[in-house]
Amino acid sequence: MDGNGRWAKKKGNLRIFGHQNAITAVRDTVEAAAELGIKFLTLYAFSTENWSRPKYEVDALMQLLVNTIRKETDTLTKNNIRLQAIGDREALPNACRRELEEAIQLTSQNSRMTLVLALSYSGRWELVNAMKQVASLVEQGKLSAAHITEETIQQHLTTAGIPDPELLIRTSGEQRISNFLLWQLAYTELYITDLLWPDFRKEHLYEAIFAFQQRERRFGKTSEQLQKAHS
Ligand code: IPE
Ligand code: MG
Repeated sequence: MDGNGRWAKKKGNLRIFGHQNAITAVRDTVEAAAELGIKFLTLYAFSTENWSRPKYEVDALMQLLVNTIRKETDTLTKNNIRLQAIGDREALPNACRRELEEAIQLTSQNSRMTLVLALSYSGRWELVNAMKQVASLVEQGKLSAAHITEETIQQHLTTAGIPDPELLIRTSGEQRISNFLLWQLAYTELYITDLLWPDFRKEHLYEAIFAFQQRERRFGKTSEQLQKAHS
């Protein structure tokens, strides 16, 4: 979800105004995704690197997060949406973590869609974490290095139990991954739009999904192999 600051600046406003207006886009997108029958939607809300922004912006974002979670938990439950979070929860301010954990708990039985918030998240942080856990199992003699597989790594990522994304949408025209789901994006289709996040609405999600549907996902195979399998 990129471009909040630029969106506000274009309107002659403070960056925070952009973050506040991002909530409408989040609401619209979550609703559209659930209506379409999407089972998992992950929102990159705050990266490990975002901690180095000016303190007042970080504080405002954390405050916005607390307020939004508090306000939206009922709606999530009404819509049968389960909330989860990936990232370094320990790094979040206490109030924020409490609110988040409460919402996760309250929505844990919901089954229509899982909404995953990436908060204080970065792909490298996650991989370091996973390696520490795996190394510790090896150290304790519970796992031999020779038996480490892709599944072993996967099980120790914060996304354990969440399938790899099929489609990644990035707004604001930036053509980079910015430390998001580095392992999980191996075969994800990328869709980049110049639209700034606060302007993102249901119709833009539909456009992205339509573009995704035109792609041929070969997973390393040839086009001919895929056609044969389908015939
Ligand atoms: C995305 O918008 C929101 C967060 C990273 C929290 P930005 O704040 O990155 O907006 P730009 O990129 O400065 O326009
Ligand atoms: Mg940005």
